[in-house]
Amino acid sequence: MSASPLALKVADVSARYGRAVSALDRAALEIPEGAVVAVLGNNGAGKTTLLRVMSGTHRLHGGEITGGQVFVGETPIGGLNPRKIVAHGVIQVPEGRRIFSRLTVEENLRVGGIRTRDRRSAAEARARVFDLFPILADRRHQRAGLMSGGEQQMLAIGRALMASPRVLLLDEPSLGLAPLVVEQIAHVITEINRQGTSVLLVEQNAEVALGVATHAYVLELGRVVLSGPASELRNSPAIRQLYLGDGAPLGDEVADGPRPVLAPWDFTAAARTRSRKAS
Ligand SMILES: Nc1ncnc2c1ncn2[C@@H]1O[C@H](COP(=O)(O)OP(=O)(O)O)[C@@H](O)[C@H]1O
Ligand SMILES: [Mg+2]
Repeated sequence: MSASPLALKVADVSARYGRAVSALDRAALEIPEGAVVAVLGNNGAGKTTLLRVMSGTHRLHGGEITGGQVFVGETPIGGLNPRKIVAHGVIQVPEGRRIFSRLTVEENLRVGGIRTRDRRSAAEARARVFDLFPILADRRHQRAGLMSGGEQQMLAIGRALMASPRVLLLDEPSLGLAPLVVEQIAHVITEINRQGTSVLLVEQNAEVALGVATHAYVLELGRVVLSGPASELRNSPAIRQLYLGDGAPLGDEVADGPRPVLAPWDFTAAARTRSRKAS
């Protein structure tokens, strides 16, 4: 019996910046096909680096993979450049949006679809984006830099969708946005996923992430210290501590004591539980 097929897998990846800074320490993570997986963790935990090694952009930031491998489906992509990884359907929405503020909304979207050769799929992708974000259709001729933070985040996600990703990587999309806008973004992520795109959602806002995700991982100092179904993590005392943002970091609790009960998470068992529930 085989586990659910994986859209993306990070197999014990270690990464560093220069000689001194270790950012990932044998990090392991799986994104089942069609899932929304959340990665939680404090500032500096390695969340962004994890996304960079998936999208191949770590080198642009002076990073280096020192061990492990990343797979899209069965294909190893660990050493590939970002363009090749994009061609495999892995698209990252970077931290801080990074839209082209002098270009219009429409021009930003066109940049996102630039590698889509056939015009029909480009048109379809654009229709999907305007359908998800009507505000972008309304504002299509406006300069992106003049839009609100929330609208810019929507544009950044829309631009990524123009490449029709198989896996969408989102780096803290809720950062700095008002609660109502955060809710809209969460809703859109759910909808994007419902339409068939697997999603990896990096968040410091655990409440948002666990509300949207099916499975979640907690990163600390480059290590996965906890993982499991989002519904279970939501009830774990350690996560509640993270919610409140006080108390000792999870690692202190996890490193010396017994391994966390929730990890390693068994996807096969989870799939069995799901099908049992369904029947
Ligand atoms: N471009 C970089 N050069 C050097 N060190 C970096 C760089 N980017 C991140 N780091 C370091 O790597 C570690 C992990 O950072 P990061 O992946 O950005 O964490 P997070 O996204 O969880 O805040 C931190 O110690 C951070 O200071
Ligand atoms: Mg980050």
